[in-house]
Amino acid sequence: MKQKITLTDLQKKKQERTPIVMVTAYDYPSARLADEAGVDMILVGDSLGMVVLGYESTVPVTLEDMLHHTKAVTRGAKRAFVVADLPFLTAHLGVEPTLKAAGRLMQEGLAQGVKMEGGKEILPQVRACVQAGIPVVGHLGLLPQSIHQIGGYRVQGKELASAEKLLEDAKALEEAGVFALVLECVPGPLASLVSETLSIPTIGIGAGVGCDGQVLVFHDLLQYASGLTPKFVKAYAEVGATIRNAIASYAQEVRERKFPGPEHTFSMDESVLRQLRHRRSKIGS
Ligand code: KIV
Repeated sequence: MKQKITLTDLQKKKQERTPIVMVTAYDYPSARLADEAGVDMILVGDSLGMVVLGYESTVPVTLEDMLHHTKAVTRGAKRAFVVADLPFLTAHLGVEPTLKAAGRLMQEGLAQGVKMEGGKEILPQVRACVQAGIPVVGHLGLLPQSIHQIGGYRVQGKELASAEKLLEDAKALEEAGVFALVLECVPGPLASLVSETLSIPTIGIGAGVGCDGQVLVFHDLLQYASGLTPKFVKAYAEVGATIRNAIASYAQEVRERKFPGPEHTFSMDESVLRQLRHRRSKIGS
């Protein structure tokens, strides 16, 4: 049995300046592969709404969607620490709905923690979860759940006022008890400053190498039909092209009657077949 990664392990990585590796994954096989590859954390991100459910944003993703995918991921992740996203609005409805949703992701989804988008405005919800024994990851910078307000997926915190606000929110979230903080699409130097300021690990996506860890979406880093190639994504494989070519080869072989071959076909006793043919000829006559 593999030893599960704990909060203590993650905190130790920050102290020892060992980068934390996180992958966003949405199902059993991707969680298994990421786990076997040795990632420290798996995020069941609500980006699943766009990447695997085909929505235009993360807004339509429901708690039931998150539960469905979290259950699949936690079945596949034997070692990695699994965090599930609280879906749109949940953390803004007040302490009770937040606790209930986070509780379901832990009890039914078997996640080890939850992630919430937002700064000072969600501190009571963060504190309530932490007091209830629910590990919380914060999320600042580009907040995809606020996309209709922001008006586009663009870098956040470039101006003094927004950078100062991000730093203050980060500090406030740390004080409220988050054990890690995702920084999405913020300038590298700002992410480095936040990382130096906090004693909890920061995990960057589009936030430069100065973060204490990095997260990329499984489908993005593998180029697996995610449809997205933002500047901050590095493609480590071309899985989508491999799949497309493989399916095209299959289709061609089916059309040319090359598949299935004898090696994919079950045989039967010749004498049984002879009798069967004989009977059929009688039925047919
Ligand atoms: O939903 C998600 O995948 C995320 C990451 C981009 C951090 O929140």
